[in-house]
Amino acid sequence: MAHAFKVRIDEVRVPAPDHAELIVHSGELIKARPGQFCHVLTPGMLRRPISFSRIDRARERVGLLVQVVGSGTRWMAERQAGEWLDVLGPLGRGFDPPEGERPWLLVGGGVGIPPIFAALEAWGAQRTSSLEVVLGARFKDYLIMTDDFRRMAVEPALATDDGSAGHRGTVVPLVEEWVSQHPQGQLMACGPTPMLAAVSRAAASLAGPVQLALEQRMGCGIGACLACVVPAEPVGPEGPRYRRVCTDGPVFRREELVF
Ligand SMILES: Cc1cc2nc3c(=O)[nH]c(=O)nc-3n(C[C@H](O)[C@H](O)[C@H](O)COP(=O)(O)OP(=O)(O)OC[C@H]3O[C@@H](n4cnc5c(N)ncnc54)[C@H](O)[C@@H]3O)c2cc1C
Ligand code: FES
Repeated sequence: MAHAFKVRIDEVRVPAPDHAELIVHSGELIKARPGQFCHVLTPGMLRRPISFSRIDRARERVGLLVQVVGSGTRWMAERQAGEWLDVLGPLGRGFDPPEGERPWLLVGGGVGIPPIFAALEAWGAQRTSSLEVVLGARFKDYLIMTDDFRRMAVEPALATDDGSAGHRGTVVPLVEEWVSQHPQGQLMACGPTPMLAAVSRAAASLAGPVQLALEQRMGCGIGACLACVVPAEPVGPEGPRYRRVCTDGPVFRREELVF
């Protein structure tokens, strides 16, 4: 059973306007797998789910990279080094490691980029197959962590809604092109639901696993309130089955989900 505890903020980075990455020290949170999340207590509100942007087991530090969209994320982004956070985690089902010899595509959209970087950092160095990364955001400044990917010797393909960097539009045409060239491939993606739905369709013919990390609104984060359910297979005469993103996910196989 997950329990709440306090972690110290070692460092605060500002990777882009309206974003902050809190680097926290915790021997507990470094047990996380990429794609899992941490539920952070914000004053007077429900906890807010945030993915791990990096998991540094050697230094016992993890990253929590937030984009300010409301009062909870604003409160987090205003924290300073030396302060403490009340957290619950690591929670949920993370990504499974990539399968050895298959070409591998990582796709991140907006604040879906941090868990994709965590997957690259965890498994990228030992890969034995080709790897490509596609990142998308509304505009150039919101394409976060691109230098972190480059530090791992990966040059990401970029897409922005307004064309201010890379391909103008969504990541989907870039994913479609990669899928057509790598039919034996595997894919991991995280981003807003419409992006994941389109990536899921584009990746339907891949021979390897397609893992999708959802960013659903949450309540309890531990499977009790059903605030986070999404439609899932199998779809029977009475409709789909529902799965909890907080405990059955946030990472699902594409064939488990009904978009
Ligand atoms: C598993 C998981 C991992 C996540 N990881 C990250 C992360 O690494 N970094 C990060 O910045 N955010 C992440 N999010 C989203 C983050 O939890 C929300 O942005 C946050 O809870 C909003 O809280 P708030 O109080 O700032 O905004 P609120 O005042 O609650 O909402 C402000 C606006 O944001 C929208 N919103 C709120 N929550 C979500 C959501 N989950 N998905 C889509 N729209 C939402 C609301 O509809 C509203 O329009 C993650 C969500 C999930 C479920
Ligand atoms: S957030 Fe409560 S069941 Fe998932």
